[in-house]
Amino acid sequence: MIHFQWRYLILVNAVWLTSLLPDVTSQPIDTQATVETKALYNMLRSVAQNQSRILVGTHLPTMFGLYGGHPPYWTYEYQGKPQAWMFHPSMAHKDYPDELCDPCLVVNDFPAIAGFDFALVGDSTEDAWVYLMHTAHDRGAVITFCFHSYNLVTNHGPWISGDTGAYHSIRRILPGGDHHRVFEARLDQIADFIKSKVVDKNGVPIPFIFRIWHEQNGNWFWWGYGNQANNTVEDIKQLAQFTVTYLRDHKGLHNILYAISPDCGGSVDAEAVYPGNDYVDIIGTDCYLIPGTRNATYMQYTLDKVVRQAEANGKIAAITETSVAESHLDQMPQFFTQGILHSLTATSGMRMAYVSTWNNHRTSDSDADVFSPYPGHPTAPDYLEFYNDKRTVFLKDLKSNYP
Ligand SMILES: *[C@@H]1O[C@H](CO)[C@@H](O)[C@H](O)[C@H]1NC(C)=O
Ligand SMILES: *[C@@H]1O[C@H](CO)[C@@H](O)[C@H](O)[C@H]1NC(C)=O
Ligand SMILES: *[C@@H]1O[C@H](CO)[C@@H](O)[C@H](O)[C@H]1NC(C)=O
Repeated sequence: MIHFQWRYLILVNAVWLTSLLPDVTSQPIDTQATVETKALYNMLRSVAQNQSRILVGTHLPTMFGLYGGHPPYWTYEYQGKPQAWMFHPSMAHKDYPDELCDPCLVVNDFPAIAGFDFALVGDSTEDAWVYLMHTAHDRGAVITFCFHSYNLVTNHGPWISGDTGAYHSIRRILPGGDHHRVFEARLDQIADFIKSKVVDKNGVPIPFIFRIWHEQNGNWFWWGYGNQANNTVEDIKQLAQFTVTYLRDHKGLHNILYAISPDCGGSVDAEAVYPGNDYVDIIGTDCYLIPGTRNATYMQYTLDKVVRQAEANGKIAAITETSVAESHLDQMPQFFTQGILHSLTATSGMRMAYVSTWNNHRTSDSDADVFSPYPGHPTAPDYLEFYNDKRTVFLKDLKSNYP
């Protein structure tokens, strides 16, 4: 702790004396990272250090959506119109183009970052999203994965609500725990998947960002803090440390950059669950605004904190997941220009590599998750303005400036 504060003092002094921006460490934590992974790291680092550039991403952008659904997509009713859609495995088998994408259709471009989820490894949808991941990579997008893992002790889902027997889940899957073998087996399955599927046409491993055990300071996931699992911050840090060490050193995977992404509204401060500089390349925040409760000022406060923590540790800062909570994006029609872009400029937050929104997804005939805009949505004009701002980097911009 003392060491940390001392470094920080030196940093503040250096800024004051020379007006130079604090530097991000010039290497990923994996000293054996592949050439492509180092190149991705360097690109993200240079964008983070540039106060007038930020990449924009979306989770599963071409897998699910609410606008323009038509065959051969699986289509669903949403708001009385059969326009919600899903790209399904047999489309992948027929090499069908992924022409639908809610936010892309607003701006006529793809996101610079496309998100996926290791929870879906072995799922019936796997062929579809693996195809979409390869398509996104071939287009030039950066790939990121999160992991909404089911509870490896109880087999319940990632959300702890209603999960009986979740007590000390983390400790029970770490070395010495009675479910450690189960955890290792699942990591082995994911490592095999990475080796066999997260590779390009020539067999070269695709570099990606792995956002491990996200929102771990919040109380909603079984790997989180402040719920009936009674995980301690030490358990949470050890889970991240073990995961990185296992994949990198034991499984020999060298195409991964590791991101930590605590939630801005967690039960304990983001820094309390920080696993240490040897386990992190990117320090992100998962931060959703809430109409009437969390406004742009809250976002500014969060971004300022994240950038300070990242730079004090020589790491890349990012907004790893964002939107308006509970699908209330329509209640903040200037979410993108005010909530994000202005918040980034008003603080030191523009020294971030990327900002990524969550996906849209129809959940029932009359209801849907709405976390990204689509044509006709109240935030669509604002998203277009956000797109047209010279500082935001979508796919076309990424390809022309960071080939
Ligand atoms: C930062 O990005 C801007 C474009 O927004 C570009 O013109 C400028 O050259 C970049 N600066 C550096 C140091 O790369
Ligand atoms: C879990 O932690 C809470 C408070 O942190 C405590 O009251 C409770 O007794 C703990 N539960 C168990 C089973 O240890
Ligand atoms: C956000 O809310 C706080 C009070 O909760 C208020 O002081 C602040 O001015 C608001 N900021 C904006 C940008 O509306």
